Amino acid sequence: MGIELKNEEAQAKMRVAGRLTADVLDMIGEYVKPGVTTNELDEICHKYIVETQNAIPAPLNYRGFPKSICTSVNHVVCHGIPGDKILKKNDCINIDITVIKDGYHGDSSRMFMVGKPTIQGERVARISYEAMMLGIAQVKPGARLGDIGYVIQQHVEKNRCSVVREYCGHGIGRVFHEDPQVLHYGQPDTGLVLEEGMAFTIEPMVNAGKRNVKLLPDGWTVITKDRTLSAQWEHTLLVTATGHEILTLGASDR
Ligand code: MF3
Ligand code: CO
Ligand code: CO
Repeated sequence: MGIELKNEEAQAKMRVAGRLTADVLDMIGEYVKPGVTTNELDEICHKYIVETQNAIPAPLNYRGFPKSICTSVNHVVCHGIPGDKILKKNDCINIDITVIKDGYHGDSSRMFMVGKPTIQGERVARISYEAMMLGIAQVKPGARLGDIGYVIQQHVEKNRCSVVREYCGHGIGRVFHEDPQVLHYGQPDTGLVLEEGMAFTIEPMVNAGKRNVKLLPDGWTVITKDRTLSAQWEHTLLVTATGHEILTLGASDR
């Protein structure tokens, strides 16, 4: 009920927006080094999106969000606001990019390791990546949203990590966040049945410790309550006749 199906023209525009989103993440990698501030990363992405891509950074002014990207470092789960925080070796950071091109959104995030990664940082980043890819592998017409949540939760909990419940994937198109809500936990064979033309994100937030989170007084930054590391990856997907297309693959994956 009420899930917008994307026609051929909308799908073509989603492909473009998705590719631009991935291009930003490909571009920013080399700047993620000890000594850089999250504000500098924001400025580089903003300039690239606006001037090189002739596109719009969706987060800027979205419900009052003050910057063009989200930067979530270490125990920050999501929606970290770029600022004068200086990255140092052993930090891990999620950079979340949403680009609007020709009216359509692409939304993707990746983990980056600053300098030498820690074992624990690599591990939680890897588990969240694997969980996202297992969820994506479920996507095809006739599958159900619960199938996606189930495989993600199983993988994460089997590895003694936890899935954040308060934030989820989402339908996407002309609107940044639209129905359906894509939970990263659940039971197989439950929930919405997928159909060709649906577009949504899968973006599991995985904590090394307990799943509980806390919202900081800035109204955006979400952290783990127990201050353990958190990691997240995100892709935008399109349901095709036979399966799915990942719209936000980086250049090295396409
Ligand atoms: N990109 C985030 C998501 O994956 C949403 C960020 S909202 C913002 O849904 F306002 F913080 F940018
Ligand atoms: Co998203
Ligand atoms: Co995002």
